[in-house]
Amino acid sequence: MCGIVGYTGPRKAQPILIAGLKRLEYRGYDSSGIALLTDEGLMVAKAAGKISKLEESLGGNEYNCTHGIAHTRWATHGEPSQLNAHPHTDVDGTIALVHNGIIENYRTLREFLSRQGYTIKTETDTEILVHLIRYNYKGDLTEAVRDALNQVEGTYGIAVISIYHPNQIVAARMGSPLVIGNGEGENLVASDVAAMLEHTNKVIYLEDGEVATITPDKIEITTIHNVKITPHIEEVSWTLDEIEKEGYDHFMLKEIHEQCTTLRNGMRGRLKWEEGIPILGGLNMQYDELREIERVIITACGTSWHAALIGEYLIEELARIPVEVEYASEFRYRAPIFTDNSILLAISQSGETADTLAAMREAKHHGITVLGLVNVVGSTIARETDGGVYIHAGPEIGVASTKAFTSQVLALSLVATLLGRMRHLSVQQGQEIIDSLIKIPSQLEQILENETQIKEIARQYYKADNFLYLGRGINFPVALEGALKLKEISYIHAEGYPAAEMKHGPIALIDENMPVVVIALKDPVYDKVMSNIAEVRARNGRVIAIASEGDEEIADRVNHVIYIPQTYRLLTPLLSIIPLQLLAYHIAVMRGCSVDQPRNLAKSVTVE
Ligand code: AGP
Repeated sequence: MCGIVGYTGPRKAQPILIAGLKRLEYRGYDSSGIALLTDEGLMVAKAAGKISKLEESLGGNEYNCTHGIAHTRWATHGEPSQLNAHPHTDVDGTIALVHNGIIENYRTLREFLSRQGYTIKTETDTEILVHLIRYNYKGDLTEAVRDALNQVEGTYGIAVISIYHPNQIVAARMGSPLVIGNGEGENLVASDVAAMLEHTNKVIYLEDGEVATITPDKIEITTIHNVKITPHIEEVSWTLDEIEKEGYDHFMLKEIHEQCTTLRNGMRGRLKWEEGIPILGGLNMQYDELREIERVIITACGTSWHAALIGEYLIEELARIPVEVEYASEFRYRAPIFTDNSILLAISQSGETADTLAAMREAKHHGITVLGLVNVVGSTIARETDGGVYIHAGPEIGVASTKAFTSQVLALSLVATLLGRMRHLSVQQGQEIIDSLIKIPSQLEQILENETQIKEIARQYYKADNFLYLGRGINFPVALEGALKLKEISYIHAEGYPAAEMKHGPIALIDENMPVVVIALKDPVYDKVMSNIAEVRARNGRVIAIASEGDEEIADRVNHVIYIPQTYRLLTPLLSIIPLQLLAYHIAVMRGCSVDQPRNLAKSVTVE
């Protein structure tokens, strides 16, 4: 997703803006640019490719100016190129604008502006917006932005500067997140807090339909209809360390290894052992409301959708409540049927995924209680739901989700146990689950200690062109997630499948060139999975098994075994996913891939 950074204050803007863009690289991008307000007017530099290309284009110059905006672009309209990169300027270079989002009616506006004599230089929707602001400009930049945005349909997070308003940044938000950083005698604006954390932890989250006028010592906010809004300053608890690599080669590896800590953080203060019950005050639901729930719809995208599938097993088995899991992008365009006493659970690490946000709004529109399982505090989904559970995974920088996934599964385990205890689960049954949860972080640590073996397996298979991942029951979604991890960071085609389904088609793919990863834990379907493994081996397939510690028989029946500690059956995904995360990571590294910022991917997809 695009990244926006703006600065206005007493210090040189250029180094602050470039450093801010680098902290947003993880969002995924294909070009970047900067606009600085110098004594000679607007200086704009743009480059396709990584931020280092932008720095090269600046040619070592450090401009003596204290006010500017910068951008990393993830192309939606118009190919990745220097011409299409942001900032975009008006016809005579008096206004510069950066944008995240999509102007849906840009063609209509383009025709309107062309009729007014404007020359449009690029294929982007963003350029239309800066000309529209110029068209509406009558001496007040904020007013011109408001008037222009009232003609716009679509989503935006924008920052605008002008030579006529030195030290002023105008920012506005509709659907694409923007946060203002309130410093000492200086202020910033950015797509997320990572870009400003080294300067301030005091932030103001802009809401949809709000416009901010930012100067070094003032922040004024109105709606796009010029209704004054009182800024609400919050303090961000994240530290700079949490967004640094801390000695790891990649953020992804750091985040895989952080999971012992993040799971402890996700449980802290939420386990009431004596009553065998999780405490989830953020749900904002009384016990009798929880008892009345008759149907749960879980909606999400990507990895979060895999966590949702695990949530289905957890809630249906522990609480005996029917659950349906929906791809958010599909759900919002179906004519979904909402029944009484249904709730919708939106799962999203970023809390900004456009499809998930729209699905949640669709349910809300039908009067359904919507809850969020979100990582980023203050994100749009978190703020628009009726309640929820913050997963406390800390900032996840690697584009491929790892610690957020296990924290989502943990949160779902807590929700399912709570719903179960509201119905038929006994105190003892609740205590059994809690006891198992408390052991998970140290068991996870044990698996991480086995990384060398996993790296060795990666070395034998990193040149494969295809992988198949198989699992049954609650480990089928784990197979899907393991396949997605490999796909998105190593670019190897990988498919997750229910183990039994392999016979109904994919078995045609099996040969000595097709590594097959099988989650074969000591559970009620173990014998069935062993039969599936035999079917693979009979066709010269090579099997990498994730197995339960103490399982002596499996070693002779597969090519490689990675053991994980035994735990409560419904909690095994918290452990069985770890070897698959490490396998994908090491294969991607051996293939020389960009692990933290895989090609074409974005950390948060805030466009449809
Ligand atoms: C997962 O590794 C991917 N980064 C992607 O599938 C992601 O899970 C999906 O885009 C949903 O993001 P969210 O959890 O922030 O909503």
